Amino acid sequence: MPRLVRHSTGPGETVGLATLGDHGTEACFRVVSRPPSAPTPYVPGPHLTAARLRRVPDFQAPRGTRDLLPAERAAFRRLETVATDLARRYGYREIETPLFEQTAVFERGVGEVTDVVEKELFRLAPRNEESESWALRPEPTAGIVRAYIQHGMQTLPQPVKLTMTGPMFRYDRPQAGRYREFWQFDVEAIGDPGPAIDAELIELALRFYREVGLADVEVRLNSIGDAACRPAYVEELTAYYREHLDRLPPVERDRLERNVLRLLDSKDPAMVELNAGAPKITDRLCDACAEHFAGVRAHLEALGITYALDPGLVRGLDYYTRTAFEFFPRAGGGQQSALGGGGRYDGLVELLGGRPTPGIGFGVGLDRVVLALAAQGVSPPNDPGLVAVVVGADPAASAERLRVATDLRGAGLAVRADLGHRKLGRQLEAASKEGAHFAIILGDELADGQVQLKDLQAGTQRLVGIEDLERELSRATSSHRHG
Ligand code: HAM
Repeated sequence: MPRLVRHSTGPGETVGLATLGDHGTEACFRVVSRPPSAPTPYVPGPHLTAARLRRVPDFQAPRGTRDLLPAERAAFRRLETVATDLARRYGYREIETPLFEQTAVFERGVGEVTDVVEKELFRLAPRNEESESWALRPEPTAGIVRAYIQHGMQTLPQPVKLTMTGPMFRYDRPQAGRYREFWQFDVEAIGDPGPAIDAELIELALRFYREVGLADVEVRLNSIGDAACRPAYVEELTAYYREHLDRLPPVERDRLERNVLRLLDSKDPAMVELNAGAPKITDRLCDACAEHFAGVRAHLEALGITYALDPGLVRGLDYYTRTAFEFFPRAGGGQQSALGGGGRYDGLVELLGGRPTPGIGFGVGLDRVVLALAAQGVSPPNDPGLVAVVVGADPAASAERLRVATDLRGAGLAVRADLGHRKLGRQLEAASKEGAHFAIILGDELADGQVQLKDLQAGTQRLVGIEDLERELSRATSSHRHG
């Protein structure tokens, strides 16, 4: 029985040094999960067998990040493909901005008094005294708007419709569905005041969820007004919370004077009742904002989209004006379950130095979509994998195997050559394990221009002319959807 010698604990894991009873050898291990009710420090009980102890490698992916291993990468690739194809169908074109920007782009764009900038920005250490201050992008919108201004896109026909999919970085407390590096599918329409395009974007996002297999996604909708009506509302809201100061948890009390809107979407149970009685922004919109919001709703209704009005939805970034929305799985899934969100940012282009230009967009959290798909039991589609592996009776004849595989790859087929020196039986075993459909066996028949084509799935085998291989495999590929 392993005995714990010393250990340290982090959320959901225990790292330590154990003595394995029988051998008395010490092993460093990581218990990936400990019972939620377990006290900290947690001393593993008899259920911790040697088999569950794993050696900790010297280096690991940074906390809050993870490696996307081939199966998960394939799932992400598919989401990216659906995202990009879909956005193109709606007239969006791909853009790529740097993973880091001048810090001021985010400070000014996203807002200095937001969690994203105040607490979660990955600031890069300056390399010398002259260098500017840089930060990893916590979200794509500010960088895309910076690019829009920098490249004079205001002179193009408006709106300029852009899409980007890639990793974002937030120094957040890691937990399920909340990572320090995560992926977003982002869509931005810059230069259209709406309201029709607001509805079109929401419909696009919903179609994305549907096409990847998440049918039951709820839209929560709000309007958070603009520079004309929000200041008076913020004042009224501040006065309301000041009246109930004694009921505010310390964190919210601190936020009250700095970013009062954020109190409305507080997750603290103590705030539920207080927030229910708070004045609602949708009752305080100026005429122009109210008309705009009515327009968004009318267009959503024209598209047959149902939505839930949520007056507490204020979003966490400062650039929003008017339309704000978020997407949640209807089945629920806790606080970390927002599958995406977005809204209008009619002041952002000007804030970053451009001419006043309206804009709207959304970001979908792909990591959360992958989690939601798994939670709903929707398995990602199979990786197409290899069509064939070229193996050989003569282990030394690797050049032959390489040549045959190279020619087939040149014809666009996914073919691996077994280049090692193991026996034919082992080569075939490896090809089956990999899920290849065929093994192309090079043997004596090669002298007559023929090879054995073994169907690993059907277990059949026949002689095929080497010049017919490409046609045979292509036919099998299209009928079995390989490649
Ligand atoms: P956001 O709501 O901050 O909006 O992020 C969009 C989505 O990214 C979230 O709904 C969530 O699914 C995912 N997400 C955010 N943080 C994390 C995290 N730490 N780990 C995993 N997933 C996360 C924006 O970023 C805006 N730029 C959206 C937008 C575009 N608004 C206008 N245009």
